[in-house]
Amino acid sequence: MKTKKNFLKSITLPAVMLVLAVIAPILSYAARSTWVFVNLTVKFEIFTYVLLGLMIVNAIVLGGLTAIRANKFDSIYSKKSFSVAIVITSLLSIAFFIAGLSFSFGMLSSESAQAYTLYLKKSLEDAVLIALPIFLVLFYPACNCKTKRSILSVVVIVISILGLSKLIPLDSYKITCDPSVLDTGKDYSIVFATNDFGTGYVEYEYKGKPYKVYDHQGGRLSSDSKIHSVNVPYEHLNNNSYKIGSVRVIEQYSYGSRTGKEITSDEYTFTPVKGDDITYLVVSDWHTYLDRAHEAISYIGDYDAVILLGDATPGVDFEEQVVTNIVEFSGSLSKGTLPTLYVRGNHETRGEYAGKILNALGLDEFYYTADMGNYSFVVLDSGEDKDDSHPEYGGMTDYNTYRADMIEWLKGADVKNDKVIALSHSWRISDVEPELSVAGWNEIERLGAKLMISGHHHQCRLIGANGGSEAEFLSAYPGITAYLDGGKMNDGTYVASKMTLSSDEIYLEAFRNNGEKLLEHTIKW
Ligand SMILES: [Fe+2]
Repeated sequence: MKTKKNFLKSITLPAVMLVLAVIAPILSYAARSTWVFVNLTVKFEIFTYVLLGLMIVNAIVLGGLTAIRANKFDSIYSKKSFSVAIVITSLLSIAFFIAGLSFSFGMLSSESAQAYTLYLKKSLEDAVLIALPIFLVLFYPACNCKTKRSILSVVVIVISILGLSKLIPLDSYKITCDPSVLDTGKDYSIVFATNDFGTGYVEYEYKGKPYKVYDHQGGRLSSDSKIHSVNVPYEHLNNNSYKIGSVRVIEQYSYGSRTGKEITSDEYTFTPVKGDDITYLVVSDWHTYLDRAHEAISYIGDYDAVILLGDATPGVDFEEQVVTNIVEFSGSLSKGTLPTLYVRGNHETRGEYAGKILNALGLDEFYYTADMGNYSFVVLDSGEDKDDSHPEYGGMTDYNTYRADMIEWLKGADVKNDKVIALSHSWRISDVEPELSVAGWNEIERLGAKLMISGHHHQCRLIGANGGSEAEFLSAYPGITAYLDGGKMNDGTYVASKMTLSSDEIYLEAFRNNGEKLLEHTIKW
């Protein structure tokens, strides 16, 4: 009994519980990008916010109780009510910590692990800045022994270094990937990434004249991004060599700037596609599973160009998610030497960075036509797959209007070649408005499309082959084959496709990441 009483009166219990109480809201808050699903499940719109509020209140109350004990305010902590308060807040701390761990494990074991880690880093930085001064005020007077004061001093020094690193970069500046050469339908956009903010440029020589083309906005160099895109005319890059470069920008002012190291790449030689015989690597829905995608791609063999069909991550809350899963991944496939077509997936329409991807990749629009060799592509953007009013979108989308605008554009679109392929993340073009779906398909039929390649369903098959509503829809377009290229399958494997074009036919193949050939199919033009 006495031991129990002593334990309740000791500093150990509230101190340990305080650590749990502080960690719990940080772990939970870092999962906020998926809170909407929790709130929808429990049918209480602000459930997670109430939970977070309770966690913070509990941490504050327990912090106060611990400080009272640490500073030896005997008249207060000897009261029974003090022990009761310690027990209640301690039990709550354990419960909240378990809740925080559950959020943590749930996120880290899914494709949202990268987003969770980035949110956690941000939350930790914020928490340290908020908690440190409070901690010092409450506990420094209690630190009367040398060891405790030393530990506290070390903590202060570490936090100061972290703060300093925000002012003076401590790591070396690097280009983190090979560039991608995106065909935008009107020129090439050369896209690459650096590990910190900086300028971006491309250097080459064309017809004896040297060019240094910058990533800029109205003449002002872009430097608030780790992604750099430079638009270059087709003829300047075709069969030409180029280098990419960047200068680190630490701060820029109205008058002057503070810049760091300048870095340049080795030379890349770009080979455009031409003529009849062209092989494409087609990938969709990699959802952060880059290793599995690379395993499947290793069975594809050589290819001349790349088609990215979207859904790189579960969402784009941070620029880093686009860097890793689109820019670096794309660069690893084309190595700066092959053209790439990018089709936006519905998961790239979600999150704070979603509205910045278009500019970051140097595109004018996510829908366009591109003529490559003797073939033309109609690149479409199906946007989100639910109505804009869905709670998942948090009132931040207007894809209903966007898709209608795209279909209006499509009605006036034209292509150079008579052999045409349509690309859309969702094969229906619109999953929300049936009339736009029909209008879109009517237009790709008018343009002469022979094939529609899509992802989104995480399946590898010819659409409509098993009858049902898909076959019913496609029966109106007998001249067009619709193909789902694979991606991250529901069994956890990954499937990549290869499309070989020749003057007579389109030859499709699909490979799983264990080497299994899943499908082959030939379509005559
Ligand atoms: Fe997907």
